[in-house]
Amino acid sequence: MTDALRLVDITAAHLDDVIRVRSRSFGPLAAANREEWIKDAQEFIDDGRFVGVVDGEEVVAAARFWAFQQWWGGRQVPMAGVAGVVVAPEYRGRGVGSKLMRGVLQRTAEKGFPITALYPATTVIYRHLGYEFGGHRYRFSFPAADLRSLGGKDVSIRRAGPDDAGRLLELVAEAHSTGRSSGPLVWAESKVAEWLEDEDNFGYLAEDGFVVYNWDDGDLRVDEIIAGSEATSRALWATVGSGSSIANTVKAYVAPNDPVHLLVEHEADKHAQLQRWMLRMVDAPAAIAARGFATGVSLEADLDLDDAELSGNTGRWHLSVAEGSGRLTTSTATGDALRLGARGLAALYAGTPLATLRRSGLAAGGSTSADSAIDTAFAGAPSYMLDYF
Ligand SMILES: CC(C)(COP(=O)(O)OP(=O)(O)OC[C@H]1O[C@@H](n2cnc3c(N)ncnc32)[C@H](O)[C@@H]1OP(=O)(O)O)[C@@H](O)C(=O)NCCC(=O)NCCS
Repeated sequence: MTDALRLVDITAAHLDDVIRVRSRSFGPLAAANREEWIKDAQEFIDDGRFVGVVDGEEVVAAARFWAFQQWWGGRQVPMAGVAGVVVAPEYRGRGVGSKLMRGVLQRTAEKGFPITALYPATTVIYRHLGYEFGGHRYRFSFPAADLRSLGGKDVSIRRAGPDDAGRLLELVAEAHSTGRSSGPLVWAESKVAEWLEDEDNFGYLAEDGFVVYNWDDGDLRVDEIIAGSEATSRALWATVGSGSSIANTVKAYVAPNDPVHLLVEHEADKHAQLQRWMLRMVDAPAAIAARGFATGVSLEADLDLDDAELSGNTGRWHLSVAEGSGRLTTSTATGDALRLGARGLAALYAGTPLATLRRSGLAAGGSTSADSAIDTAFAGAPSYMLDYF
């Protein structure tokens, strides 16, 4: 690496360079999509969420991050969703990607995000920087004819449009807080309205639920479904399944614990599609304070955290969990305590049992007899995302 390499904020003047590196990384950007891509990029630029590495004046690497909220234990936690990590081919394998990602981490910290997540094309670089698997994006498939016969005919439903974005967000929030969900993203109301405005998406709304689906290569695909009752669940899935005379299969992005798995008899394809995403704590005390924990668990434990990249997380901490909330405060205690690095902490936050972390070298020390209380506090329904970003 030469000394001329430095981190910069990407500006509009850099975008031609970024597109060149991006095309060499992800494939060409169709001319028809260029304007839209630049419009999107400007939003990241305006908010200081687009970081690059330049060699002299030329951009040789870039990445940006979305300002999401992510559900953890039924509460929303601000999450920096890192995307579009690209390094020019002639600069790869020389530490440029790592320099870029360190800049991204620094910026997520400056902007006050307690956690960050990303979909890794390769895990190595992100693991070196403290990311670990946090959950999956699941796509299941069901025979359309089976869904069609789920019933729910007494439930009244109507087409949903952009004006229903606020109501959809309320229904999502209610489902994820009562279900103590972990993983799903919260999009801004304006983005939800755009999604509903797109005439390729078919939205239907009931009193206590909605579905949004579309065509996918001759099949139908459910992008999101929320139902507050069995009857609504049946009605919404049956509406999608009513397309069974044309589509054999309904693919669906849903949680592995979605009620549909208990309502429908068969899967169309026994192999669910999985995409793994990675998580990292940026500000450990803020991340612990923001998420929900299993209610009914009371816990007091010391943790030794060692974070090579974000030193504010390093040190002896005291973790208290009670009545569904947690706190991480500095501890002056000495002696043996549970030891975690950034990867171990991220995996624990995402509900990975300590026994797994110990067996993979991501946790050590402390008393294994205390592990089960810690596991119970962080445990819950499996963490999942519906969206790729
Ligand atoms: C992935 C990418 C960003 C890595 O950038 P880079 O500048 O080569 O990364 P670094 O040189 O800092 O490498 C950091 C570590 O990751 C490893 N690594 C990098 N690319 C890798 C790959 N494709 N497969 C496996 N390991 C890889 C390096 O070997 C190094 O580990 P080491 O120190 O143990 O040897 C770059 O190759 C790229 O732009 N690829 C195409 C687009 C892409 O896949 N982006 C990622 C989207 S999530």
